[in-house]
Amino acid sequence: MKILVTGGLGFIGSHTVVELQNEGFEVVVIDNLSNSSIDVLDGIQKITGKKPFFENLDLKNKVSVQDFFDKHTDVTHVIHFAASKAVGESVGNPLLYYENNINTLVYLLQELEKKTEANFIFSSSCTVYGQADDMPITEKASVKPAFSPYGNTKQIGEEIVWDVSAVSGINAVLLRYFNPIGAHPSAEIGELPLGVPQNLVPFITQTAIGLRQELSVFGDDYPTPDGTAVRDYIHVVDLAKAHVLALKRLIEKKNKDKVEVFNIGTGKGSSVLEVIKAFEKVSEQKLAYKIVGRRDGDVTEVYANTDKANQVLGWKAQLTLEDALGSAWKWEKKIRNNI
Ligand code: WQD
Repeated sequence: MKILVTGGLGFIGSHTVVELQNEGFEVVVIDNLSNSSIDVLDGIQKITGKKPFFENLDLKNKVSVQDFFDKHTDVTHVIHFAASKAVGESVGNPLLYYENNINTLVYLLQELEKKTEANFIFSSSCTVYGQADDMPITEKASVKPAFSPYGNTKQIGEEIVWDVSAVSGINAVLLRYFNPIGAHPSAEIGELPLGVPQNLVPFITQTAIGLRQELSVFGDDYPTPDGTAVRDYIHVVDLAKAHVLALKRLIEKKNKDKVEVFNIGTGKGSSVLEVIKAFEKVSEQKLAYKIVGRRDGDVTEVYANTDKANQVLGWKAQLTLEDALGSAWKWEKKIRNNI
């Protein structure tokens, strides 16, 4: 069974390709290499022994998308990762985000709605909740006005999937990721942030390896136990496995609705200082950091209620924060040839 993974050479995409291949699926990857490297294909092959079929294709090019589906008429299962995802960048360049995250989704769905039946897994985000009123957050929590164009593209994307699935043979699962971190335990694939990392964990590992002088902790005056903001950090391998279960659910027609939504997190919140402490423990070295002012757009606290994913999807995070930080550190040392 052929599965199309868009953005399949990216951070979460590549880890999902590995888990799909482990489950015996044939994988076709589309990626425009704007935020990934062709070398990731070798990394995947080193882990699974199988190199996925790859097309360097930009989903912003409607004709290319049509040509792809004309060539691969048997593609009816799609996991869609390809998108821009830097919150800060989206504020300064909203049209880049609306074009890259919305147009591409429309062109993909225009091809899938031609099929009698198609299964679609959409990469969404806890960002759609904004600063939710109650913790932990359930899927029933209201979607709040987005804090950024990035978050808005995820909200709009979800609505597009709902509207199209209502009038087509498309069945969909929306996976709302919390904070993906870590790397495959083999250290053959991992996160490859281009330039200065926006996210906490790659900045930590780059500081620890000596690429960055010190980590700036954005604010310690939040209403949390230690004053730093709280997030739900999910190991990317656990997150990847959730996609395989979601796809199987649709293939086996176990879905109860045309569109189903699941929070994919650990259900546990960790503060920035707790992450630093956990990293120092797994790396056995002190991390250089300083407390600075809050970052615009950050929320105080976000962590998932994962009951629905546990009970309905049959998925539960198995790996811990320390597992994730240890794998991120092993990956950092590998790509800097320190191991
Ligand atoms: C985590 C915490 C920062 C960097 C975003 C998107 C989300 C997903 C993950 C795409 C916050 C603090 C960070 C630093 C710091 N992206 N921090 N110093 O903002 O929770 O989520 O990325 O899917 O959709 O919204 O992740 O890793 O940037 O920040 O103190 O140098 O670490 O303030 O509290 P975030 P993050």
